[in-house]
Amino acid sequence: MLKLKYLTHGVDCMGINFHDRRNKDSYTTRKADQTWKETMERLVRPATRKHAVDIGCGGGIYTKALADLGVSSVTGVDFSEAMLTGAREKIGADRRLTLQKGSAQDTGLEDGCSDMVLQRALIHHMKDLHPCFLEARRLLREGGVVIVQDRTPEDCFLPGSEEHIRGYLFSLFPRLVDQEVNRRHRSERVVHELEATGFQQVSVHRLWETRHRYPSKERLFEDLRARNGRSILHELSNDEMEELIRHLEMELPEGEIVEKDRWTIWQAVVRE
Ligand SMILES: C[S@@+](CC[C@H](N)C(=O)[O-])C[C@H]1O[C@@H](n2cnc3c(N)ncnc32)[C@H](O)[C@@H]1O
Repeated sequence: MLKLKYLTHGVDCMGINFHDRRNKDSYTTRKADQTWKETMERLVRPATRKHAVDIGCGGGIYTKALADLGVSSVTGVDFSEAMLTGAREKIGADRRLTLQKGSAQDTGLEDGCSDMVLQRALIHHMKDLHPCFLEARRLLREGGVVIVQDRTPEDCFLPGSEEHIRGYLFSLFPRLVDQEVNRRHRSERVVHELEATGFQQVSVHRLWETRHRYPSKERLFEDLRARNGRSILHELSNDEMEELIRHLEMELPEGEIVEKDRWTIWQAVVRE
């Protein structure tokens, strides 16, 4: 079988290796967007929450953002020591935050320790949702809320535009469509699994979140070449990456680029 070693740091298969130290800053370089903060304010009223757990916390961007929104203390959990190292370096000392190693299926935290669980950009990395929803349910006390944020196939396949840059990937490289369909969960499936796990009042929300503001196209291209924070870019060879950049050079206007992603957010509660 053809081995594409050049594609990604330290592994000879496609896809990002979360455990490779060279990828430790993949999820540290952005800030939580204002639209995300406003959505969290509206859905979970963070200032009323004593403790939150951010599962699959990556670089800790949203772990810290929850504390900044008023959650008294937040524990970020990730199964990758490399990601946790990146998060610790980025966040520095912050007494409101704890970062610890654990899996989404077994965080190692106590039953009922929390009144909010966040799983952002986590579930497309797991085939079977039930164990990670069961773990979220176990961590929550009565009245607690889970927020699951990810992209459905419908979110991913919106056409490319000067804001929705991710959309160009699928028109240029149709083979990525199959892969995305395989790993992205449909909304109905997520709702079903949350209900099957015993969550109640499941609701679904859509969010256009600003991913990043680039002062110029060149800065966007640097970020693409570094494959920062978008695991699907690890599926492209270096030649394909250059093809994408040549295409974007023609499609995108000069000046600032405001890149946005469309997300689906599922909210559910443990009834009092
Ligand atoms: C796409 S990143 C998202 C990081 C962060 N939540 C964000 O939104 O910026 C996915 C993260 O989930 C972690 N992860 C993937 N599978 C996991 C599992 N089974 N248990 C714990 N963490 C996991 C990865 O190490 C990575 O940090």
